[in-house]
Amino acid sequence: MTAFESRLKEAPDGSLYVRAPAKLNLFLHITGRKDDGYHVLESLFAFTKLGDLLNFKAAEDFTLTVAGANADAAANIPVEENLVFKAAQLLAKAAGKTPSGALTLDKNLPLAAGLGGGSSDAAAALIGLNHLWDCGLSEGDLLALSLKIGADVPSCLAAEPQIVRGIGEKLQRVQLPWSAGVVMVNPGKPVSTPDVFKGFKSFREARGLPPFDVSITDLNKVVEDISMLDVLTSNSLQDPACQLCPEIMEVERFLRLNSQQELLRMSGSGATVFALYHDKQAAEAVAHRVRQHAPNWWVMADEIG
Ligand code: C5P
Repeated sequence: MTAFESRLKEAPDGSLYVRAPAKLNLFLHITGRKDDGYHVLESLFAFTKLGDLLNFKAAEDFTLTVAGANADAAANIPVEENLVFKAAQLLAKAAGKTPSGALTLDKNLPLAAGLGGGSSDAAAALIGLNHLWDCGLSEGDLLALSLKIGADVPSCLAAEPQIVRGIGEKLQRVQLPWSAGVVMVNPGKPVSTPDVFKGFKSFREARGLPPFDVSITDLNKVVEDISMLDVLTSNSLQDPACQLCPEIMEVERFLRLNSQQELLRMSGSGATVFALYHDKQAAEAVAHRVRQHAPNWWVMADEIG
């Protein structure tokens, strides 16, 4: 049994489920680019408690039903492109199994939003199906397989705070000695990750900036203290993302002017902006304010740490 399997829970009806929480990049620096075009990063990942939820029921045929608040957006992409489906195909091939089971994905997180929703769903699928199909794949096997689905998927298997390096495969678990309430706000525009990475290059070139970020020398300081995180780090994809999606600046401005946050920045390649607060109650109050201001923005309050 892998440590990831502790994420499998039993629903009241006896079926199994795995939560697929949102991934937040508390900071994201780009330290290089590989020959294949993928970028080398240094990032602190944290995960919320809530998000999507993937439910597994034993069944002869393999089916995937998408429900939840963002099911309509997910319905616009072909089922073969759903990362849960991709995860199932890859696992079946690796373990020599025929896909089976009735899966329901409760899709609450927005798509192409910088929250790793699809990656988190795929990781949940690997954990659940490894158990359901009795594949017996080890933690190492699952990590290797997950990287074939996407660069963020390995970190989503544990869904715990991690320093992430390489393109997303070098993982170092860390303990956050703090907890915080978090508000996530998405202006409702999907942002293409490859386009943002392309924009990163042209943004730096146009300003005569060095092509890449330098590694942080004292990562402990940054992990331990939100104010250090704020001062010493950033999300290097935020400026290029704002060029593609100026609404990110609108969201950030609203949160900055209407709440007393401890950290405010974009996650991943955007467009979701998150803000950290003293506790979940404070975060919920801010979420309420955001919903009143812009009913068409996607908003979620939760906690991390
Ligand atoms: O791996 P994933 O499918 O999430 O990546 C989507 C795209 O984002 C890649 O095709 C690549 O253009 C870009 N990317 C990158 N470097 C990373 C992760 C993603 O350039 N470390």
